Amino acid sequence: MTKIIVFTDLHFGQEKAGNLPKERLTKGLAHVAEHNPDAAHIILTGDLTHDGVVRDYETLRDVLAGAPCPVHFMVGNHDIRENFQAVFPAADKTKTGHVQKVIDTEFATLVLLDTLQAPPYSYPFSHIGVLCADRLAWLDAQLAASEKPCILFLHHPPHDTGFVAMDAIKLGNGPEFYDLIERHGNVQQIVCGHVHRTISGVHRGVPFCQFKSLVGQMPMLFDVMDFHMETDEPAAYGILMLTPDGVLAHTEDFELSDLGAIRRSGPVNAPPAK
Ligand SMILES: [Fe+2]
Repeated sequence: MTKIIVFTDLHFGQEKAGNLPKERLTKGLAHVAEHNPDAAHIILTGDLTHDGVVRDYETLRDVLAGAPCPVHFMVGNHDIRENFQAVFPAADKTKTGHVQKVIDTEFATLVLLDTLQAPPYSYPFSHIGVLCADRLAWLDAQLAASEKPCILFLHHPPHDTGFVAMDAIKLGNGPEFYDLIERHGNVQQIVCGHVHRTISGVHRGVPFCQFKSLVGQMPMLFDVMDFHMETDEPAAYGILMLTPDGVLAHTEDFELSDLGAIRRSGPVNAPPAK
């Protein structure tokens, strides 16, 4: 089993009441180190910062110095790719400058994609995601080369989620993306960010999952056309367990869980009922 930790939508720099991304990531990384010390990788699925400014990427870099295993980056609609790459010059990028990479694991190939629709950085237009021809061609080549099932990571969901406001700013060319992956037939799971809510489902036969944000969760108001709404529920991270038979996806509400105060609901080692 290979364990992958997912932190999504960190929004460093969005410091306001209840939103404490620096403190929450510090706490989350310590939680991973204590309770998931066997994690092989941490993947940050975009919106690393709220405004894309250099000083917030620098703060993120400083906090990540405490990470217990390798960290891999993606950008989202709140990021500025050039500023991210200035602070993290060693982060992988393609020949076309996109923040994309492949991670080989024992049972699956992880493919991290860059769905940021910029430059130009023009809002609200750039809140919508895209996989341009260059990025789709790169994905096509990775899927063709992989001898293992593939797990794709995108900041923007290529599918609907039921939240009308977020569905308006999902991946803009989702059907083209799905046409491509259907031709390969080796995508096992899609993992997204962007919505700030735990969601799972199946779209065009491919399972997907999404996790809660580090800050500011999506209110459960499906039909309100406002993608700036948020509610201050505790933060969470995702745990993916990759096995020879498939993928398990868990959410750890690390600010709620108290693993030191576990109660029993029955006797220890109770024998099976006869
Ligand atoms: Fe976000």
